[in-house]
Amino acid sequence: MNETSSTSDGRSWLLHCRAGFEAECAEEAVDAAAQHGRAGFARTERGAALVEIAPADQHALPPPPHWRNLVFARQSLALLARFDALDPKDRLGPPIDALAAAGLRIADWWVEAPDSEAGEDLRGLARALEAAALPLLRKRTLVDPASSMRAHLVLRDGTHALLALADVRHAAPWPQGIPRLKFPRGAPSRSTLKLDEAFLVLLDDADRRALLRPGMTAVDLGASPGGWTFQLVARGMRVTAVDNGPMDDALMASGQVEHRREDGFRFRPRQRVDWVVCDMVEQPARVATLMRDWLSEGAARAAVFNLKLPMKKRWLETQRCIALLRDSLGDAWTVRAKQLYHDREEVTVAVLPARPGG
Ligand SMILES: C[S@@+](CC[C@H](N)C(=O)[O-])C[C@H]1O[C@@H](n2cnc3c(N)ncnc32)[C@H](O)[C@@H]1O
Repeated sequence: MNETSSTSDGRSWLLHCRAGFEAECAEEAVDAAAQHGRAGFARTERGAALVEIAPADQHALPPPPHWRNLVFARQSLALLARFDALDPKDRLGPPIDALAAAGLRIADWWVEAPDSEAGEDLRGLARALEAAALPLLRKRTLVDPASSMRAHLVLRDGTHALLALADVRHAAPWPQGIPRLKFPRGAPSRSTLKLDEAFLVLLDDADRRALLRPGMTAVDLGASPGGWTFQLVARGMRVTAVDNGPMDDALMASGQVEHRREDGFRFRPRQRVDWVVCDMVEQPARVATLMRDWLSEGAARAAVFNLKLPMKKRWLETQRCIALLRDSLGDAWTVRAKQLYHDREEVTVAVLPARPGG
């Protein structure tokens, strides 16, 4: 390896996040390391959409957290090497040498640009390098389809890059941790993609099989004009949409929606429903408390809701809401939260039965 690169031996973490939320992502990850008794410090810049967490002492960090267990990170990787002066004529040589030197064989190789302003200009280069890499890796017998490892070369600019590894069992299955969703024809609002993404990111395959079935019932609090209701109807559910605002005509014509012009904080269904979802713009703790009450009273079996975050102390506020839910609901429930790609100054939370089929 030349002197313009340095290794990290997988002792550090590399996290993709939303640009502007690096501080929250860093605080959360440092706390996650501390829970394993390890001290970490963050290297990042505002707007970079990337955060590195390095060990603060001689002790290596544990493997990076499962991507679903982090709120502000979209992707969770182990950092292997850093390249600070790549030759534009051979950008792939040093990272491939680093992989070979680490004695690793990988199932796949992705080249990514961060989801930042600077990253926009690097997309074409990333695609070209990704296409060029696989034949070179095969030639050096570094590809093994049975491996659980995937290499991520993350470009910072034309000459700076980071090489990281994903354990595919613990990492998000999409480049940059962003699922590419198509806006569905006929959906009444952009925020429809938030609930679509929440079902993809916060639920795993077993959760989706057990919890998203035609014939189920749901209540949508703060439903107007109906983007979230649209997703529930598309999955064959019968929905009570609660909002003083109007609902989309085509959605109402589906015959699967009952519109109730009531206060979402007071409404309760006559019978337990399978889902309560909530997108009301309110204090995060007030929404978390409402959802806790619905679930503990047995008014719904599962919940997805959005927490609009204050401008300051966003990680602290998110932690408080998650703790409120976990502490009062107990082990019978799984609480997951994520700042989704379609979320802005907010995070989305799912509270699911711990044994969804049971
Ligand atoms: C962000 S919008 C919801 C968008 C909706 N999820 C969609 O996908 O189209 C928030 C909605 O919450 C409603 N809302 C706010 N406070 C409410 C309350 N106390 N009861 C019922 N609805 C409320 C507002 O009328 C507004 O329509």
